[in-house]
Amino acid sequence: MKTDLNRRDILRNAAMLAAASTAVIAPGSWLVLPASAAKTDEKEPEVTATEDLMREHGVIRRALLVYFETVPRLRQNPAGVDPVALRQTAQLFRTFGEDYHEKMLEEQHIFPLVRKQGAELERYANILTAQHNRGREVTDYVLAVTNGSKISAAHAEPLAKVLETFVLMYENHAAREDTIIFPAWKKNFSNKQLDEISDQFEDIEHKMFGKDGFEDAEKKISNIEGVLGLADLAQFTPPPPPKV
Ligand SMILES: [Fe+2]
Ligand SMILES: [Fe+2]
Repeated sequence: MKTDLNRRDILRNAAMLAAASTAVIAPGSWLVLPASAAKTDEKEPEVTATEDLMREHGVIRRALLVYFETVPRLRQNPAGVDPVALRQTAQLFRTFGEDYHEKMLEEQHIFPLVRKQGAELERYANILTAQHNRGREVTDYVLAVTNGSKISAAHAEPLAKVLETFVLMYENHAAREDTIIFPAWKKNFSNKQLDEISDQFEDIEHKMFGKDGFEDAEKKISNIEGVLGLADLAQFTPPPPPKV
């Protein structure tokens, strides 16, 4: 039995405290009843196993956006592309995306069950696994061509093409997992079981990273975005469409 507070417990307690700050205190009583006590039902974990997987996709998608932004820069001015930031993105993809999210969670826990849920889901799991493997080849390649002070002119267009096609593959990949694979997998369990699995995932995360892997990965991708001038979200709001 666990005695230490895990992340979800901390989040749950924080939610309770926030709710308590607006609660009514009974006269002469120490008891503070949170106004939204019903919402903090133990059967409804604050961060579910699938939510964990999907927010990991959020970090992975931000790495994909770095790749996406790099493609036109490689085509216009490869000498101006920062190989360090690109290399750090590939390293994050490897440690957090491939070695943790793909290998430790999806390939060990998600796909084996989903494969047993019918021919169509089995086919999906096989394609998704093949895409993980192709992605690892892509990461090897990105790490190899960013291992110097500059990206050579000879590598610029092949790298642009590799990143472009990888982004398209992985956006499809993560979107199918979010909408088809994770919901199918979740059907195998009760809420209580999902809660226990979430704790298991968290233990794996702590064993691999020695701390909260998600928060560390989020910080890393934020720093990379900062270096590349991609940090300000407002810059991506497009101008209004033409009037018709
Ligand atoms: Fe995957
Ligand atoms: Fe995934």
